[in-house]
Amino acid sequence: MKVLILGNGGREDALAWKLGQSPRIAQLYCAPGNGGIGDHAQCLPVDIKNVDALIALANQIKPDLTVVGPELPLMLGVVDEFNRRGWRIFGPTQAAAQLESSKSFAKEFMARHRIPTAHYAVCDSLDQIHDALPHFHAPIVVKADGLAAGKGVVICATKEEVISVSSEMLSGKLLGEAGARVVLEECLQGEEISFLVISDGEHVAPLAAAQDHKRVGDGDTGPNTGGMGAYSTSALLDEQMQSWLLQHVARPVVAGMKAEGAEYKGVLYCGLMMTARGPMVLEFNCRFGDPETQPILMRMESDLLDALEASIAGNISGEGFEWSTDASACVVMASGGYPGTYEAGKKITGLEDAAKLEDVTVFHAGTSKRDGSYYTSGGRVLGVTARGADLQRALDRAYAAVEKIRFEGAHYRKDIGQRALNGKKG
Ligand SMILES: Nc1ncnc2c1ncn2[C@@H]1O[C@H](COP(=O)(O)OP(=O)(O)O)[C@@H](O)[C@H]1O
Ligand SMILES: [Mg+2]
Repeated sequence: MKVLILGNGGREDALAWKLGQSPRIAQLYCAPGNGGIGDHAQCLPVDIKNVDALIALANQIKPDLTVVGPELPLMLGVVDEFNRRGWRIFGPTQAAAQLESSKSFAKEFMARHRIPTAHYAVCDSLDQIHDALPHFHAPIVVKADGLAAGKGVVICATKEEVISVSSEMLSGKLLGEAGARVVLEECLQGEEISFLVISDGEHVAPLAAAQDHKRVGDGDTGPNTGGMGAYSTSALLDEQMQSWLLQHVARPVVAGMKAEGAEYKGVLYCGLMMTARGPMVLEFNCRFGDPETQPILMRMESDLLDALEASIAGNISGEGFEWSTDASACVVMASGGYPGTYEAGKKITGLEDAAKLEDVTVFHAGTSKRDGSYYTSGGRVLGVTARGADLQRALDRAYAAVEKIRFEGAHYRKDIGQRALNGKKG
């Protein structure tokens, strides 16, 4: 069969790599793809923010299945439009994707369905902020309601800061439309975990859990990024906690969405804070995480194609998927300057040497290919991913591969997975 992947990042390279192992797939396409994805899929230069262009592409290549990587096409309704025309596509509809596209929708939905989350207030004006503030203690989290590419959350140390950040968001100065409504939240403490499930609208099956590293610098310092690395181990979430999360978070979300007339199919990504009061949902994403997908898929032993098709067909099995007991880790190599402005067009060397290392796969995120060589073309350039019998071995392999790769200005975190190794989880 023919499969089309939408997106151009490390997550999409990992999806292409994993789907490429499926014996039932004869041809992989990716729109628009990147330099590395082009090595195992045919890349097509189509703007994935343009749903009409995507429909034209489907009419041309006639994919048996389309897999959506990033959130934007989901919010633009690409699943609704493909379904209407009879093209099979994996992911939630526009209405179901509101769980990610509107943080106030997600909070109010969680309140209606008693899903554990931080106390909150939804505010459309500064007057409402002033009315809500007496119910909170500093620090307070201020979130823009809409999609803000990781720039919509500010943890404020004082109530004065809440007022200044909220007024900048509400006026549209900071984030445009996305900040026209804000959510105030109680600030939670604990370890963050990414818990992903695949839903068929009624049943869910968990993916291996992962932990992301959002800040640019070692020791969780510096500004937030799209994610500088991630790891996945079986110890991150024990079986008891996984059942608890299925029972109190994932299944109630899917049942609640169905009851409200917006059946949820696709990946449901639950961003959790493991607090002293128990796990609390920070947010939902309606697609695979980037870079969590890279280490998660490295541990997946089941055929991903079967999982995606089961989601569409409505027959996700309670038995779930098969996972390796190995650990896996992904170290992101980024361009100089990232997450601020960065330079592109730097030649990347050492990729072949890195790929020769045992159990290492270098996923491409921001790369392009010219005359047989790869060049940087984005902020996050590569996701150097490895597996091993335990987290230490997976990390050793990933960092050994990183050492072999060079491009001008490259930087990466040296402490991916370190907190887990230092005794917390692992
Ligand atoms: N209520 C909260 N308490 C403490 N930290 C939070 C809270 N909500 C969000 N954060 C922090 O901010 C980060 C981003 O928030 P999130 O809701 O995931 O938004 P987004 O991913 O859309 O930027 C989280 O990963 C977490 O580190
Ligand atoms: Mg998040």
